[in-house]
Amino acid sequence: MVQRIRKAIFPVGGLGTRFLPATKAMPKEMLPVVDKPLIQYAVEEAQAAGIEEFIFVTGRSKTAIEDHFDHSYELETTLRERGKDAQIAMVNSWMPQPGQIAYTRQQVPLGLGHAVWCARNLIGDEPFAVLLADDLILADIPCLAQMVEVHRKTAGNVVAVMEVQREHTNRYGVLDVEGDDGRLVSVKGVVEKPDPAVAPSNLSIIGRYILQPEVFDHLAHIGRGAGNEIQLTDALAELIRGNKPFHGLRFSGTRFDCGDKVGFLQANIAFALARPDLTDALRKILNGYC
Ligand code: UTP
Repeated sequence: MVQRIRKAIFPVGGLGTRFLPATKAMPKEMLPVVDKPLIQYAVEEAQAAGIEEFIFVTGRSKTAIEDHFDHSYELETTLRERGKDAQIAMVNSWMPQPGQIAYTRQQVPLGLGHAVWCARNLIGDEPFAVLLADDLILADIPCLAQMVEVHRKTAGNVVAVMEVQREHTNRYGVLDVEGDDGRLVSVKGVVEKPDPAVAPSNLSIIGRYILQPEVFDHLAHIGRGAGNEIQLTDALAELIRGNKPFHGLRFSGTRFDCGDKVGFLQANIAFALARPDLTDALRKILNGYC
């Protein structure tokens, strides 16, 4: 029987230097797309995939995230007094239950691999998900739910992948593909940020992973890689050499790189256009600019 994916890690310990000064006192995962912070989109995606335990690996200025996933009694009292019950539901309905959220601190931002490793004791010995909130995905079926469905059939490790322009392979972890049915690929290797000239493919991993707990053993010894950071991709390369299946899923949906200013602006436009209450007004404005 394939073990169910119950736990998810949300690494939110990065410095977010590309968004300074917005991220000076606030994690970039609190930046809003339309009217919701990136981290809330990620948590809702995890909830839709059946996740029951939400593990945040935080860095400095973590309080904004903790506060966001907690009751705000003053706000709720004021909204109640004003008879705004719908808005109370809007600030509470998606909140995980008490005891479902855990926080651990990365202390030093040594890279994504290190952030994931920091959650090892909270995960224990079971497969788990990792969601990077700055990769925002607009999809009919939430991306992680698509991956959980694949995991139910294949077990092992599953990563979300997309084709990128070859000249951009040096921004991603890139797969060395063994088999490909058009949706699911089996993988024989992965390289972090390869030069386009030597990249094994243009199929790149984006910020959604379902991983086996063996990854923690690899993270413990791999040391620093590209950019002098402890790279999750380097531990994935070790996992691929192991004895559990490793698949890449070409998910259905559109991914926005909200760690980058242009991607973030694009996400705001796409998510606003998808909202019935905003689409007409925004279309008019965009037509004016074009
Ligand atoms: P990025 O590569 O986007 O780095 O991290 P960053 O520091 O957040 O942003 P920039 O490049 O300085 O603008 C990808 C993901 O990994 C997390 C980030 O929070 C983000 O979700 N991360 C990165 C950590 O949790 N810890 C780290 O040490 C590095």
